[in-house]
Amino acid sequence: MKPAPIWQYNEMKPCGVDYTDVEEVAAYDTMHRKFRDYTKSSEEIIRTLGIGSESIVIDMGAGTGAFALHASKRCRTIYAVDISAPMLEYCRQQAEMQGLSNIVFCQGGLLTYEHVGEPADAIVCVAVLHHLPDFWKMVALKRCHAMLKPGGRLGLFDIVFPPWDENSEAKIDNLIKACGVMADARLAQEAVIHVRDEFSTYDWIMEGVIKRSGFRIDAAEYGDGFQTTYICTRE
Ligand SMILES: C[S@@+](CC[C@H](N)C(=O)[O-])C[C@H]1O[C@@H](n2cnc3c(N)ncnc32)[C@H](O)[C@@H]1O
Repeated sequence: MKPAPIWQYNEMKPCGVDYTDVEEVAAYDTMHRKFRDYTKSSEEIIRTLGIGSESIVIDMGAGTGAFALHASKRCRTIYAVDISAPMLEYCRQQAEMQGLSNIVFCQGGLLTYEHVGEPADAIVCVAVLHHLPDFWKMVALKRCHAMLKPGGRLGLFDIVFPPWDENSEAKIDNLIKACGVMADARLAQEAVIHVRDEFSTYDWIMEGVIKRSGFRIDAAEYGDGFQTTYICTRE
């Protein structure tokens, strides 16, 4: 493997919320289960991306396994990739408790994970790409492109902003308040950190980066609270 250039972005150094902190990892799952239905959202992703029992899937930034644990029951092999060892360990323990044996755990990230197995049918990336500055988002997506079979699918789910206008400040305040109501004060604080310190970007930048990385955007949904979904195909 070619060594990374000295100017490569260090994705292992946490920006914003520190998911390498063991205490943060334990709190993450409890907090997210307050406002997410993992089974329902995973089934929706599986259906939309056309994942089936023979599919090879990569969950990029798998975290505690919100998608990977459920998807493992619906596909041949799933690679749970994350820069955080405590996140992967949490996911591994859950997999063990549930008797799931087709998850391959890989410590690495969007810029460093080397996929050596069969090319993937699908890559899923939920709330992860915003950890990279825009320049590096394209590097990351081109790497994902290379890991997929021709025609392979990419599901990107993240916070993405519409163009800044006179209502943006109020909308961001409302997003933070909504996080407090949906879950708790900790999630509200994470939303503050997200906007202030992480790299969620504008919708037109995301669309440009996705297309120029070699993907066709089949569907782009801009939901309330800046939650965005891009369903894409490797061209
Ligand atoms: C907000 S959590 C999302 C976790 C999971 N996808 C979910 O839906 O709950 C972000 C995850 O991305 C991981 N992460 C951050 N930067 C990353 C990178 N460059 N490559 C891969 N994973 C990364 C973090 O360690 C963390 O587990």
